[in-house]
Amino acid sequence: MINLSTTVFGQLFKNPVLPAAGPNVGTGEKTRLAAQGGAGGLVTKTVSLHPAVVPKPNMARFRKDSMINAELWSELTLDDWLTNEYNIALAAAKEFGLPLIASIGYSPEELATLGPFLQEKGINLIEFSIHHIGDESIIEAAAALRKAVSIPIIAKLSPNIGQLGRTAALLDPYVDGFACINSFGPTLSIDIEKIESPLGSDDGMGWLSGPAIKPIALQAVYEVSQATHKPVIGIGGIATGKDVIEFMMAGASLVGLCTAAILQGPYVYGTIAEQAAQWLEEHGYSDINEIKGLFTQKMKNKPAPSTSDTLCMVVNVDKCKACGRCEIVCQYDALTAKPKEKAFIDPVHCAVCGLCRTVCPFDAIELVVG
Ligand SMILES: Cc1cc2nc3c(=O)[nH]c(=O)nc-3n(C[C@H](O)[C@H](O)[C@H](O)COP(=O)(O)O)c2cc1C
Repeated sequence: MINLSTTVFGQLFKNPVLPAAGPNVGTGEKTRLAAQGGAGGLVTKTVSLHPAVVPKPNMARFRKDSMINAELWSELTLDDWLTNEYNIALAAAKEFGLPLIASIGYSPEELATLGPFLQEKGINLIEFSIHHIGDESIIEAAAALRKAVSIPIIAKLSPNIGQLGRTAALLDPYVDGFACINSFGPTLSIDIEKIESPLGSDDGMGWLSGPAIKPIALQAVYEVSQATHKPVIGIGGIATGKDVIEFMMAGASLVGLCTAAILQGPYVYGTIAEQAAQWLEEHGYSDINEIKGLFTQKMKNKPAPSTSDTLCMVVNVDKCKACGRCEIVCQYDALTAKPKEKAFIDPVHCAVCGLCRTVCPFDAIELVVG
């Protein structure tokens, strides 16, 4: 039996897969569905002092599994949340035995006003987003919320500010942890038949999320988790159990997902947690906490890079299925993969670029020290 539970911010999470703030947790009832769908802890949509007025339409799928959106924060009023939605979310948290993180935004004044209301309601942790404030107000916002509440606070970082590690180090004295990243942008998509953006925002632009931003998010988590010793919730493009493992190896203590939950429904949290458990079992681990920071540790002990003279790519003929994909991508004409014949790499022409190894569907190309 694999242990997926983990204690972070002094709270026990049943598994590390949480919702990330968005329409997937846009009401108390949707938050309850996330709990029912197997989330290991709960997060609610960002609430601000005034309800958002959103452009219409404001969400579009991008490629198969990503999205561009022009949503803002909650369109419900603070009063709706305080008198109704948080009660439903809190009841779900109690019923399923999960911590509840409430997301709020944005200005220092708004955070200082909203924070105490949430603390009084019995919310366990507050996440504050810096998405809609200028870089110069970020520290001020954290300091204002820190002063206003005694429960743990988490800073949710946006990738567009850049240098996330530096920002995390500056925020560190005020916060108990970090969540990164928010959606990436601004970005643009055009429906060429209609010659228009699928979004109704003034400039047609929106924010990119889902697997399209995963490498950006993973790098951010790696950078932030080294800049601070406080827990990091990794968010951005998580859609499978292996993604969870990857983010935790890069230093995340928990993960959050929004796009996958919007496109696949609330049971995706539990499905992804089960997939992560299965991966752990197959790889001889018994506890999710064992893999945390493994990549970071390995990078610290990494030997000096080998020179290209000592490295070469070879085909493992037992695994090669002669599909020919490696030959197509080889930019150095070093690979031959004739139909029905095993692939062959000519070491004289091979530049050890590594691309073939990553396109082989059968894991049949290996990097060896020659
Ligand atoms: C439609 C939509 C609405 C979102 N609304 C919020 C929000 O209210 N507050 C927030 O902090 N992040 C919001 N996000 C960002 C997500 O929480 C998340 O950080 C981002 O989408 C990357 O994760 P993902 O790839 O799993 O979606 C929203 C994302 C989407 C797609």
